[in-house]
Amino acid sequence: MRTLDDLEVQGRRVLVRVDFNVPLHDGEVADDTRIRAALPTIEELRERGARIVLASHLGRPKDREPELSLRPVADRLAELSGADVTFAPGVVGDDVRALADNLAPGDILVLENLRYEPGETRNDDRLARALAGLADAYVDDAFGAAHRAHASTEGVTHHLRDRAAGLLLQREVETLTGILSEPARPLVAVVGGAKVTDKLGVLDRFLELADTILVGGAMCFPFLRAQGHEVGDSLCAAEDLEPARRVLEAAREDGRARLELPSDLVLGDRFAAEAEKRALDGVDVPDGWMGLDIGPKTAERYAEVIARAGTVFWNGPMGAFELEPFAAGTRAVAEAVAAAPGTTVVGGGDSAAALEQFGLADRVTHLSTGGGASLELIEGKVLPGVEALA
Ligand code: 3PG
Repeated sequence: MRTLDDLEVQGRRVLVRVDFNVPLHDGEVADDTRIRAALPTIEELRERGARIVLASHLGRPKDREPELSLRPVADRLAELSGADVTFAPGVVGDDVRALADNLAPGDILVLENLRYEPGETRNDDRLARALAGLADAYVDDAFGAAHRAHASTEGVTHHLRDRAAGLLLQREVETLTGILSEPARPLVAVVGGAKVTDKLGVLDRFLELADTILVGGAMCFPFLRAQGHEVGDSLCAAEDLEPARRVLEAAREDGRARLELPSDLVLGDRFAAEAEKRALDGVDVPDGWMGLDIGPKTAERYAEVIARAGTVFWNGPMGAFELEPFAAGTRAVAEAVAAAPGTTVVGGGDSAAALEQFGLADRVTHLSTGGGASLELIEGKVLPGVEALA
């Protein structure tokens, strides 16, 4: 993978693909983590005299919905970077091209939402060519979008051969692949979230590579059901049962990771913060109740495994942490990961949100900015956005 060190940028227009797909609230950026994560690359390029054209998608627009404009993101970037930031009214076209041509070294032009152009997600070659025409070199720092073969992440590299990974993308790829190739042992994977099928690839990979897999969140119910337990009204999709059975079987083979499941739970009578709540010492959930968190004994057992780990990878909450009465299990795991002496890597998405919620985001070795991208990388898939930088 080529890096910024391989790229001549002084006085040149550099198209930088970033992942500024951030949550907005009332027209303002509600969480600027992904913008701040791109600042080191932007700062280095500015210091080296590049003229920067920044491009990102935001959400999944069907049309040009004004509420998905990148303008508020450009405003936030201007505040954070202190740079001269201009916002382009579109993605490509003569007006945008003129704005890019007129950039002075160190200045930034932010393009409008890439997905306002239907050719972006179709990896349309005309759009890729037009994007390439805005610049002399290309930098991809959008790790969160690296699993997408889109015009701005893959197509454009066919027309801008002078290309490199940005510092964020480079660090993400090196860290996530590094914990798989040469992990300090024991390697412990903490896997949670709602659905087994979403995490199947990751479970398969960790069955091969990890020493222990700790399972939490609603995805533990298909496993418990497959073991013959009652799951009551817990989330337990029928299509998750067979994969769960298969994973349990694979875990019994020699040389595979130990798969650990909850041994106690916190139940609610419905999915709501005001739900009636009760503790269950065991995992047979009665009818009329649903498991919404791992119980304290499970949390303590998982925390002990995490504390002894050489490397921890965590993806997916242990319960409905967004509802305060059911947040304790996820909080206990987050605190254990934050306090662990080993290398700790947290995948993006909900686990990142949980770490933020508990104020622990800066206490882990690496917090990925990519949800889907980090999972696909862990699964061993080749990310098109990364391959394009070879
Ligand atoms: C993300 O938020 O995971 C990335 O920005 C990718 O977004 P997408 O799933 O809409 O392609």
